[in-house]
Amino acid sequence: MEKLGRNEPCWCGSGRKYKQCHEAFDEKIKHFALQGHMVPEHDMIKNPEQLAGIRESGLVNIAVLDYVAENIREGMTTEEIDRLVESKTRQLGGIPAPLGYEGYPKSVCTSVNDEVCHGIPSEAVVLKSGDIVNVDVSTIYKGYYSDSSRMYQIGEVDEEKSRLVRVAKECMEKGIAAVKPWTFLGDMSDAVNTHARENGCSIVIDMGGHGVGLAFHEDPFVSYVAPKGTEMLMVPGMVFTIEPMVNLGTPDIYLDDENGWTIYTEDGKPSAQWEVTVAVTEEGCEILAY
Ligand code: MF3
Ligand code: CO
Repeated sequence: MEKLGRNEPCWCGSGRKYKQCHEAFDEKIKHFALQGHMVPEHDMIKNPEQLAGIRESGLVNIAVLDYVAENIREGMTTEEIDRLVESKTRQLGGIPAPLGYEGYPKSVCTSVNDEVCHGIPSEAVVLKSGDIVNVDVSTIYKGYYSDSSRMYQIGEVDEEKSRLVRVAKECMEKGIAAVKPWTFLGDMSDAVNTHARENGCSIVIDMGGHGVGLAFHEDPFVSYVAPKGTEMLMVPGMVFTIEPMVNLGTPDIYLDDENGWTIYTEDGKPSAQWEVTVAVTEEGCEILAY
């Protein structure tokens, strides 16, 4: 990499001089890299203007999930959820990010019971009492991407499934609490995984989160089963999702090869997931979409 003059504009695009912006930051990153740690590339670091854009996108995502919360009910098809998400997103000036993404046919993912993620909305899937469903919403707003998901419980949900939904939410919260600059993504994932294990649940190994903001899926890949002190260094300006998939049974999964998208638990037991988009800050973390 070219060495940037101390009085030149910072690489982050803030418009500030390098010496007043990311010079000390780069030195600190270099120190971790020399110790053999994975460190973020400059293109993973968002500047204040980009963070503001992702924050606004996140507000649309939040409003769409609130709208789903107000309207979801027993007897509704997941296709209807898709219509709710698409119309609300567009009404707020956004674009549903999933629609047409790598050929994905709908505006949202709706994953019911043993569906781990990427359930495709359908007229054939009618929500019934006792179902748990993850609604995963992603928005493009003024070119900025946000991504979050919540669980909804339909009618009378049994104790086991209801507990799974709660544990999955707590796993996400443990992850959020472990986001601190100059620590590692593995520290965050260990907090998530430990909570799942303590509650007799398992975390899906083969699927994870991702950087997000200027594109739908950016580096790094975010694992929720990595040990403490491993994976990428977290630094201020990084934006990624915390979205552990939590299973009641084993972590094993399989892909629906008819539709090429939907992931199911191998043992047929239920799975739950909550997702936030977070930014690493100087102090800890900011939740940009929930
Ligand atoms: N929010 C989902 C994720 O990050 C979106 C998957 S891509 C889609 O895993 F096309 F299925 F939406
Ligand atoms: Co995601």
